[in-house]
Amino acid sequence: MSLVFPRPNTSVIGKKDKRLMAEVNASPLKHFVTAKKKINGIFEQLGAYIKESSAFLEETYSNEELDPVTTEEQVAEVRGYLSKVAGIGEVLSRRHMKVVFFGRTSNGKSSVINAMLWDKVLPSGIGHTTNCFLRVEGTDGNESFLLTEGSDERKSVKTVNQLAHALHQDEDLDAGSLVCVMWPKAKCALLRDDLVLVDSPGIDVTTELDSWIDKFCLDADVFVLVANSESTLMQTEKSFFHKVNERLSSPNIFILNNRWDASANEPEYMEEVRRQHMDRCTSFLVDELRVVDRSHAGDRIFFVSAKEVLQARVQKAQGMPEAGGALAEGFQARMFEFQNFERRFEECISQSAVKTKFEQHTTRAKQISEALRLIMDSVHIAAQEQRIHCLEMKEEREDRLEFIDKQLDLLTLDCKSKIKKITEEVEKQVSNAMAEEIRRLAVLVDDFHMDFHPSPVVLKVYKNELHRHIEEGLGRNMSERCSSAITVALQTTQTDMIDGLKPLLPITIREQVDKMVPRQCFALSYDLNCDKLCSDFQEDIGFHFSLGWTMLVNRFLGPKNTRRALMGYNDQVPRSLAITPVSTSMPPFPQGSMTQEELMVSMVTGLASLTSRTSMGIIVVGGVIWKAVGWRLIALSVGLYGLLYVYERLTWTTRAKERTFKRQFVDYASEKLQLIVSYTGSNCSHQVQQELASTFSQLCQQVDVTRQQLEDEIGDLNSKIEQLDTLQSKAKLLRNKAGWLDSELNMFIQQYLQQGR
Ligand code: GTP
Ligand code: MG
Repeated sequence: MSLVFPRPNTSVIGKKDKRLMAEVNASPLKHFVTAKKKINGIFEQLGAYIKESSAFLEETYSNEELDPVTTEEQVAEVRGYLSKVAGIGEVLSRRHMKVVFFGRTSNGKSSVINAMLWDKVLPSGIGHTTNCFLRVEGTDGNESFLLTEGSDERKSVKTVNQLAHALHQDEDLDAGSLVCVMWPKAKCALLRDDLVLVDSPGIDVTTELDSWIDKFCLDADVFVLVANSESTLMQTEKSFFHKVNERLSSPNIFILNNRWDASANEPEYMEEVRRQHMDRCTSFLVDELRVVDRSHAGDRIFFVSAKEVLQARVQKAQGMPEAGGALAEGFQARMFEFQNFERRFEECISQSAVKTKFEQHTTRAKQISEALRLIMDSVHIAAQEQRIHCLEMKEEREDRLEFIDKQLDLLTLDCKSKIKKITEEVEKQVSNAMAEEIRRLAVLVDDFHMDFHPSPVVLKVYKNELHRHIEEGLGRNMSERCSSAITVALQTTQTDMIDGLKPLLPITIREQVDKMVPRQCFALSYDLNCDKLCSDFQEDIGFHFSLGWTMLVNRFLGPKNTRRALMGYNDQVPRSLAITPVSTSMPPFPQGSMTQEELMVSMVTGLASLTSRTSMGIIVVGGVIWKAVGWRLIALSVGLYGLLYVYERLTWTTRAKERTFKRQFVDYASEKLQLIVSYTGSNCSHQVQQELASTFSQLCQQVDVTRQQLEDEIGDLNSKIEQLDTLQSKAKLLRNKAGWLDSELNMFIQQYLQQGR
C-alpha cells in the first residue's frame, strides 16, 4: 500500500501549507480534470477546424470557374460534423465524476460523505435520515444553495441544520426524488475536481430499486457500499448490487465497513471480525459480482469510521488538534485506512470516469478527423489532378501559340515571295497580251460598224462608240488571252496560302476559311480608259488629191514636216512680211492675213528651199521636156491630171472617209496604247497583288483570332491554376491539420485511455 497524505480542507489552508497544496494538486482526481481540459481543448480545436473546413468546402463547391473538386455529400457531411462536434463539446464540458453511496439506513452514508468533504455538509444521525437522493456538487459562488427537481429556484442554505430543515419541510420529496446541494468549490477540494457525490436513502426503505438504478446509477463511475461493520452484509444490500451489476457492465464498487471504531471495544475479536468481513466482502465482489480480481479485492474493501474521521477533520479545520476529542483506540489506523480508501477511490474514479466519459467521444472525434482528412485528401488530389490537367492544357496552348507564330513568319515570307513571283508573271503576261492586241487593233477597229458621217456631231458619237467598242473588245480579248491563266495562278496561290495557314486554325474555323475565300469572283480589270486616252485624236478626213501639193509635200517631207510646213507657222510670233527670203530655215508667216497666192509662193519657196537643188533640176528638165514634146503632151498630161483628180474626187465617199478615219484612228490609238502597256501590266499585277494580299490578310486575321483565343485560354488557365494552387495548399493544410488533430487524439488516448490496460 502506498503512503497517503491527508487531504486538507483548502478553505482553511494558510500560506505555510504549500507543501500540502502540492499534494492537493497531485490528487489522482487531477487525472480526470486534466484529461477533461485536454479533451475539451481538442474538441474546441476540432470544432474550429471543422468550421474552417466546412467554409472552405462550401466556398470550393460554389466556385463555378473550376471543375468540382468536392461533392455535395462531402459538404453536407462536414456541415453535419459541425453541429455534432459542438454537441459533443457541450456534453464534455459538463462531464464530471460521479460517486453514489448506498447502504442500509444509519450505516453512515451521509457521515462518510461529510468526512470526505471535510465538513458537515449533509445532515446525518438520528432524526436526520436521508429521505431522498442528495447530490453534492461544486458551485463557483460563495453561497451554498439547494436546487430541487423541476425547478430553477435556488433555496439558500447556509448551515447543515438549515439544509435538514429545508429537506424536511419539503413534502413533495420522496425516496426517488433528487435534491442538488450546491456547495462552494472554494470550501472543498473534491468539488473543485469535478467530483459529484450522491447520497441515497437507505436501500432497505424502498422496493423501487430498479427505478433508482435507472435514474441515478447509469452514469455513476463508482459505487460505495457503506456497510455496518457491526453486522454482516445484508441480502438487501447484496441484491441491490446484483441489480446494478446486471445493468452496468462491471461497475466499480467499494465496500466501506463503517463504524469500525466499535471494534475497538472488543479488541480480542477485532482481527477475527475483520477477517470474516474481508472474506465475505471479497467473496461478494469477486465470486458473486465478479467485478474485481481477488488480488485487487483488498483495494476495494476498507474498515473505517466515518464519524471519527469527520470529527477529527472538523476539529482540524477549526484549528484544533486532530485527536483532540475522546477517540477510541486505533483511531490513527482507521484514519489511515480512510485516507487510503480516499486515495484508491480517487484513482479508481478518475481512471474509470476518463474512460467511460471520454473514450467514446475520443473515438468519435478520431473518426471525424479521419473522415475530414480523407475528404481533404480527396479535394487535394482532385485539385492537384485538375491543376496538372490545366498545366498540360496551358503548355499545349503555349506550344501551339509558338508554333503559330513561327509558322506564320515562315508563311508570310513564303507568301510574299509567291506574290512577288506571280505579280511579275502577271505583269509580263499582260504586257505581252496587250502588245499583241495593239498589233491586232486594226482588226478590232474594222469590226466596228456604225453609220459614219463626217459631220462633227455624228463623228463625236461615232468616236464615243468606237472608244467603247475598243475598250470592250480589248478588255475581252485581253481577258481571253490572260485572265484564265492568271485566275488559275491566282487560285493556286490562294489555295497554297489557305493550305499553309489552315493547320494553324482550329477545325471549326477551317470550314469558315473555306467559305471565306471566294475563289471564282476575282476578275482582272484592265482599265484601259480609251475614252481619255484617245480624246485628243483629231481625224483628217478632208479630201486630199494624191497629186495635190499637200500630198506631194507630204510624200517628200513626211506627214510631220508637212504639217509644220502647212500649219505650224500659226505658232510663230507675227512679224512684217519678208519678201521671198531664200533660206533653208522655215520662213516666217504672218498670221491670218495670208492669201492663196502668198500661200502658194510660200509653199513653192518652202519646197524650193527644202529641195532647192532638186527643184532646180526639175525646172531645167521641165524646160527640156517642153522643148522636146511640145504643148500636146502637156495638154494630155494636164488632162490626165484632171481626170485623176475627178476620179479621186468621185471616189472620196463616206466609206472612204470612214476607212481613212479608222486607219488614222488605229495609228493614233496604237501609239497611245503603246504608251500604257507597262502601266496596264503593272496595274493588273497590282490588282493580283491586292487580291492575294487581301486573301492573306484575311487569313492572318483568322490566325490572329485563333491566337487571341489561345491567349485568352492561357489567361483563363493561368487564373485557374492560381486558384487551384491556393485550393490545393489550403486542402493540404487542412488535411495536415486533421492529421495533427488525430495525433493529438492519439496522444490523449495513450496518455489517458490506455493507461493501466
Ligand atoms: P440514513 O440517512 O438514515 O440512511 O443514515 P446514514 O446512512 O446516512 O447514516 P448517518 O450518517 O446519518 O449516521 C447514522 C448514525 O450513525 C449517526 O448518528 C452517526 O453519528 C452514526 N455513525 C455514523 N458513522 C459512524 C461510525 O463510524 N461510528 C459510530 N460509532 N457511529 C457512526
Ligand atoms: Mg443519511
